[in-house]
Amino acid sequence: EVEQIDERFEDSFAIGAAVEPFQLEGESAEILKYHYNSLVAENAMKPMYIQPEEGEFYWEDADKIVDFAKANDMYLRYHTLIWHSQTADWFFLDEEGNPMVEETDPEKRAENKELLLERLETHVRTIVERYKEDVDAWDVVNEVVDDNGEMRNSPWYQITGTDYIKVAFETAREVAGEDAMLYINDYNNEVAGAKRDTFYNLVKDLLDEGVPIDGVGLQSHIQLGWPTIEETRESIQQYADLGVDVQITELDVSIYGWPPSGEYNTEDEIPYSVLEEQANRYEELFDLYEEMDEEISNVTFWGIADNHTWLDDRAEEYSDDGLGKDAPFVFDTQYHVKPAYYAMMDIK
Ligand code: XIL
Repeated sequence: EVEQIDERFEDSFAIGAAVEPFQLEGESAEILKYHYNSLVAENAMKPMYIQPEEGEFYWEDADKIVDFAKANDMYLRYHTLIWHSQTADWFFLDEEGNPMVEETDPEKRAENKELLLERLETHVRTIVERYKEDVDAWDVVNEVVDDNGEMRNSPWYQITGTDYIKVAFETAREVAGEDAMLYINDYNNEVAGAKRDTFYNLVKDLLDEGVPIDGVGLQSHIQLGWPTIEETRESIQQYADLGVDVQITELDVSIYGWPPSGEYNTEDEIPYSVLEEQANRYEELFDLYEEMDEEISNVTFWGIADNHTWLDDRAEEYSDDGLGKDAPFVFDTQYHVKPAYYAMMDIK
């Protein structure tokens, strides 16, 4: 009898997994029900799936995930209302079908900005209206800061400046109500550097302006030796000091550095010493999360088990031979517990 992960951390935070609809059946569903008490869609709730054409909303896959969470009494995160990626092009085309970012006439640019913010409002309003009773935490915007510490130069930013962030949060608050928990989510904001500084200052400025942000999501796509636990502790503290909640939203611990070498092509090729190193990493990580459990309300993995991880695509993409397997979770490809599981659970 394997000890349940969500029970182990019951007094500290919810434990979640990102899922595709097909994982809500069979063995993955059993693991979800047994070990996790929180759920998020890996893709199904992103803008391009929810509103592929203007005014045409596709709810089927998102509903499946919402229904599963409800049926199993799970906490539900919505990922993500607004993003620069996985967003259909129609958002950023003007009435004549021309890309808004290419417009040079100031008057037309002002019209475009108004139109884009209207579309954003409709998008956010329609989704939040539908799911407000079911969703516990909303990723309102995702990855608005770039790696170099500048604001991400997405069409959203080029056309509206930072207004799209404000309108997204204000609309979500208006529709979801005062009790809703609204998050600004990003990666490498748990790592010291220019990006973290810009992200921190942005959150602080937005809060000062009265933008209704309740929490910060630290994606936490991390590696065996990066970043340091110290950097992550500082980050969590920094956001907590702003008075906002912290959630670990997309945790995975790659066995590779960056870019991934993809040197192992199958799970069986991964040396035991690497799995042990990963176990140590999980141990120190969850020690930190538990130590800071007053600040952290949810820890969500970006997947369930090593048979389905977006990191495989990257291990393949960057490897010399186009092959490559990653293994970021505490369950292997057969849903068996790994050394990382015992380390995370503090089972010696
Ligand atoms: C990834 C999914 O896991 C992939 O299936 C998809 O092809 C691309 O997006 N940061 C995020 C997530 O906020 O939405 C991304 O998810 C991973 C990085």
